[in-house]
Amino acid sequence: MKFFASSAAPARQQTDCAIVGIYKARRLTDDAKALDKSSRGAITTAIKNGDVDGKLGATLLLGKAPNVSSKRILLVGLGTQRDFGVAEYRKACEAAISVLRGTGARNAISYLSREKVNDTSIYDRIRHGAAVASSCIYRFDELKSKPDRKFRLSKLGFATAADADESEVERGLGDASAIAAGVAVARDLGNRPPNVCTPTHLAEQGKALAKDYEKVTTKILGRAELKKHGMGAFLSVTAGAAEEPKLIVMHYKGGADGDAPVALVGKGITFDSGGISLKPPPNMDEMKFDMCGAASVVGTMRSLAELGLPINVVGIVAACENMPSGTATRPGDIVETMSGQTVEILNTDAEGRLILCDALTYSREFNPAVVVDIATLTGACVIALGAHHSGLMTTDDELADSLLDAGRKAGDVAWRLPLTPEYAEELSSNFADFANVGGKPGGAITAGAFLQKFTSKLRWAHLDIAGSAWKGGKEKGATGRPVGLLSQFLIDYASNSD
Ligand code: BES
Ligand code: MN
Ligand code: ZN
Repeated sequence: MKFFASSAAPARQQTDCAIVGIYKARRLTDDAKALDKSSRGAITTAIKNGDVDGKLGATLLLGKAPNVSSKRILLVGLGTQRDFGVAEYRKACEAAISVLRGTGARNAISYLSREKVNDTSIYDRIRHGAAVASSCIYRFDELKSKPDRKFRLSKLGFATAADADESEVERGLGDASAIAAGVAVARDLGNRPPNVCTPTHLAEQGKALAKDYEKVTTKILGRAELKKHGMGAFLSVTAGAAEEPKLIVMHYKGGADGDAPVALVGKGITFDSGGISLKPPPNMDEMKFDMCGAASVVGTMRSLAELGLPINVVGIVAACENMPSGTATRPGDIVETMSGQTVEILNTDAEGRLILCDALTYSREFNPAVVVDIATLTGACVIALGAHHSGLMTTDDELADSLLDAGRKAGDVAWRLPLTPEYAEELSSNFADFANVGGKPGGAITAGAFLQKFTSKLRWAHLDIAGSAWKGGKEKGATGRPVGLLSQFLIDYASNSD
């Protein structure tokens, strides 16, 4: 979807649809008033007929109105004017785009972006509007023999005030489309079935980035190299699988040679059966989404390359399947990690932390300034936070604040869980340095505590996206989260480091 901006008067703007707002108590926005006036009351007639009242998210599609250049007018309820904040603005945008999906409109202009939305700038309103719109028109139909009806809407304009700062508008459009592209990459990868989206497929995506963008170089490590690096934990997870494991290293060089990079480390289990600790059948298909951390790293690298930020970033994806077989790792097996620490594997379904611990150790080769890992790590995190917030764990308060803040700015929020030392005690083992699981209580945090054992002296944070990375049920599909949060984090990081 292409985004643009326009400051033209609504009645004279050529477009397939003008999206204008109406607040509660039937209060028209200025742009709605202007259209009403030109059309000699097309909107007030609808109000009089009782067709629209300003309830948040309610919509009314009107056809061509006299003396209005637009082919359609879409009225959207904005709720109470005083309460119109970012969440309400996003909801109204989403309602509007959902309606347009069912029409023949190829382009539209949203006048909602020049409403006053609590504490936001035009940059913010373009970002939020574009994020909601692109996510709303996303469809995954590449594997249907007959594709779903194509949505026509492919261009969306944002109305700006006549005195809007043009460079802020341009920055908003540019950042929004770069991030939308990255989110779509992550969603496609997440949605692809596990027989298509294999570790090799993920590696090919990494290589494609290097081909498409000059600043990206990609290196792939196979089984032999994993062995050479002593990644015993990673190898133990792939032991039962026929698919080849891959460690994918994508290097984006936008900064100076000596600048320490940000490292993003993603969990890429392309199918998590649980291994010998086999999962129960219900919803096991959803374990194809167990590579959404990896997908978010690839997606963020794509956003980053589009943004062209002046920083260095290394994206590291540990990709393999977790399968049961005669060669699979057994509960009770003890492995040596790349760090030299030994782990007793009590449950082969706690595999994410086993591939991540070696990937985190590997990240040290780049002397990173910051390391963030992203993983669909625990069912316990879904219980703790549901789908709305990703779980954030770190002992670095400053890093926590920048990640939380980035999430809020991008509408891709996280919530911090405590990572105090007591949780690590759960992992004690009689036979190895520690075990790969603790008890059930606080399971998201003991997983974080496990990873923490591999991050000493690193500036590190862990994002558990088990609840936020995909939706189940009727709306089953990848969300592309937390590409928004991560991209924003990098944008902020770049602007703080010049
Ligand atoms: N990929 C799962 C986590 C998961 C489960 C995410 C369900 C979303 C929904 C992970 O590998 C896993 O199986 N974790 C176990 C850990 C346990 C064995 C300590 C879990 O959460 O049950
Ligand atoms: Mn598992
Ligand atoms: Zn898993």
